[in-house]
Amino acid sequence: MNQPASNNQWQADTYDHKLDFVSRLGGDVLSLLQPQPGERVLDIGCGTADLTAKIAEAGADTVGIDLSPEMIARGRSKYPQLNLSAQNAYTYRTGQPFDAVFSNAALHWMRDAHAVAVTVASALRPGGRFVAEFGGYRNVAALVNATETALAAYGYEPQGRNPWYFPTAGEYAAVLEAHGFLVTLVQHFERPTPLQGESGIRDWLDMMADDFFFDVSAADKAVIYQEVEEQLRPEHYRQGQWIADYRRLRVCALKMAD
Ligand code: BEZ
Repeated sequence: MNQPASNNQWQADTYDHKLDFVSRLGGDVLSLLQPQPGERVLDIGCGTADLTAKIAEAGADTVGIDLSPEMIARGRSKYPQLNLSAQNAYTYRTGQPFDAVFSNAALHWMRDAHAVAVTVASALRPGGRFVAEFGGYRNVAALVNATETALAAYGYEPQGRNPWYFPTAGEYAAVLEAHGFLVTLVQHFERPTPLQGESGIRDWLDMMADDFFFDVSAADKAVIYQEVEEQLRPEHYRQGQWIADYRRLRVCALKMAD
């Protein structure tokens, strides 16, 4: 799911069981895509392919790509009928243009947004559409601040660890316009996201935040996780439920004819 700048290790099984909300909440952005029977649709950063499968159920001819071979293997085992492959979204090219390119909860792992926009533009036929949702400006800011503060408290330099790209609406629209897109919708909104169970924060950090902990011993990590929980508890734990401060950026754009 992530690009080479990040060293996050994906555990496809845990992803499906503890972070199933990623594809469940991605259902909304599918309604913006409105896949049609017979259309060719590329899903960038497809993860374990739950949304690719939904697009295919609508009758579209889908291709799903993800950088993580583990996520692709899991996707293939769940959906053997789908065309899924481990590919880098910065360099992926196709000889057969797509009618639409879709992406949910993946583009924030790809810090070179211009390289991704080149891939999307090259994959689409003129007039084809790009529909995406990912983390927007200040996404998970409370989680990031708590993690950086806890790292610093235990003697780790917190700067330079954050692997994510969370642009503002204006910043991302400008990237797309620079690559020949007409931006038809861009929305930045808060989407507080419940995490499963008492261990919700720890599970989230385990799944998503390897880049913050690459040089941290297991013992230090355990106390830093606890410290992160204590910082977040007053604002982000309600009636036995952890809530992550997600902010989404949702975008629709058309590839203009040359
Ligand atoms: C997100 O979907 O917003 C997200 C997921 C993992 C890390 C950071 C953000």
